[in-house]
Amino acid sequence: MHNFSKSQALQKRAQRVMPLGVNSNFRYWGEGVTPYMAKAKGGYLWDVDGNRYIDYRMAFGPIILGHAYDEVNAKVVEQIVDGTMSAMTYELEVEVAEKMVKMCPGLEMVRFACSGTEATMHAIRVARAYTGREIILKFEGNYHGFHDYTLWSTYAPVEAYGNRRSPIPVPASSGIPKVLGEKLITLPFNDVEGFERMMKSYGHQIAAVISEPCQGNCGAILPQPGFLELIRQRTAEYGIVFILDEVKTGFRIANGGAQEYYNLKPDLATYAKALGNGYPLAALGGKREIMSIIGQGVAQGGTYNNNKPGVAAAWATLTVLENEPVMQKLNERGTRLMAGIDQILTEAGLVHCMNGYPAMFSYAIGAEKVTSQRDWSVTDQNLYLEIIDALIERGVMPDHDAREPWFLCYGHGDKEIDDTLTAFREAVKACKK
Ligand SMILES: Cc1ncc(COP(=O)(O)O)c(C=O)c1O
Repeated sequence: MHNFSKSQALQKRAQRVMPLGVNSNFRYWGEGVTPYMAKAKGGYLWDVDGNRYIDYRMAFGPIILGHAYDEVNAKVVEQIVDGTMSAMTYELEVEVAEKMVKMCPGLEMVRFACSGTEATMHAIRVARAYTGREIILKFEGNYHGFHDYTLWSTYAPVEAYGNRRSPIPVPASSGIPKVLGEKLITLPFNDVEGFERMMKSYGHQIAAVISEPCQGNCGAILPQPGFLELIRQRTAEYGIVFILDEVKTGFRIANGGAQEYYNLKPDLATYAKALGNGYPLAALGGKREIMSIIGQGVAQGGTYNNNKPGVAAAWATLTVLENEPVMQKLNERGTRLMAGIDQILTEAGLVHCMNGYPAMFSYAIGAEKVTSQRDWSVTDQNLYLEIIDALIERGVMPDHDAREPWFLCYGHGDKEIDDTLTAFREAVKACKK
C-alpha cells in the first residue's frame, strides 16, 4: 500500500482555503484518496509522499514531449529574462503563428488565447458574427471548456437526455442561464440520421457545428468513418461554420492534428494543451475569410494571450515536433500499449473495446463497440475504476475518471510501456479476484 499521509494532511489544509481543496473539480478524487503532487519529469510523476508513478494523465493532455522538457524550459528561460509580457506583439508570436499555419492544413490565420475554454468561446463568437446566426450544434459527451455556451450535455446521466430524435440539452452545472439552452441543439455523436434530420429542420438557423474529432472527454470514442466528412459537407451546404475542437487532438495525434489525420479542413479550429507542452497557450484559427472579421467589429483579446512563457514554450514544442520523430514514437509505443491492454483484457475474459489513437486512447469494459456517450454510459465504469485504483497502487497513473483518455508523451519509452503492461496484468488479476 502506498503511504498517502502527506497528501491527506495537505488535502485537509487545502480544504480550509480552496473548495474541495483543489483548483478544478476534476482534480478531486475523494476524501483521503486525492494525491497531491510534488514534481514531474519525462513520463513520471511524484506525489508529496514520494510515491512515483508512470503518468498517463499528462496534465489532462498538454504534455506531449514529457514533463519539464529541457528544450522547452530552456526556450522559456531564454525569453523571460527579457520580460514576461508587454502590451504589444513580439516576433516570436508571429513565428509560432507561422509554424501553426504550416503544420495544420485548415489554418490560414490564428489568434492566441490562454486556455481551451477561451479558444472555443472566441471561436463561437466569431462563427456567430460571421453567419449572423445564433444557434450552436454540439454533441453529447463532447466538452469544449467551462464557458456557459457549450457546458451542456457533457456528463449528464443518459436518462436526462431524452429521446435521441429530439435530445434535451442538459446544463452541466448550476449557474448556467437556462436561456442559453435555447441557442443550443444537442445530438448523440456519430448519429448520422439525427444529424441529417437536424440539418434539414434547422440548418439555415445554425451558426456553428462544434465537435471534437474524437470524444476526448468521453472515453476517446472515435468518429465513425464518414461522420466528420458528413459534418464538413452539410455545414458547407448550409453556410454553417464548422468548428473542430482540437484542444486534445491538436499536435497530439499528428503534427497537423485531426485535420492531417482525417484530411479534413474545418472552417475554424481550436487548440491549447499540446501546443505549449504544459505552458499556457491556446489558439483559434481557420479560414482567412472568417478569421479576418476579427477586429472588424468582432471582439477578441485577452491580457495574457501572448504571455511569453506560453509563446516560447509553443515555439520550442512545435520546433521539436517538426524536427524529431515524436509522432512516430508515440504511435509505435501507444500501439504496443493498446495492443497489450487489449490482449490482457481478452485473456481475462472481459468483453471490451479499445478506443482512440495510440497517443490518446481508452477502453470500455462491457461493450464490444461504443459510438456515443449513450452507449458508453452503460459500460462497466466501476470495474474500469477498480483497475485504475489497482494500477495507481502499482505506480501507474491513468486518470481516475473513466471519461478521460490515457495520454502518452515522447518521454514514455519502451521500458515504461513494458512496466505499465506488467502492472496492468497484475491489476486486472487483482480486480478479478
Ligand atoms: C476538447 C476540449 N476543448 C476545450 C477544453 C477546455 O480547455 P481548458 O481546460 O484549457 O480551458 C478541453 C479541456 O479538457 C477539451 O478537452
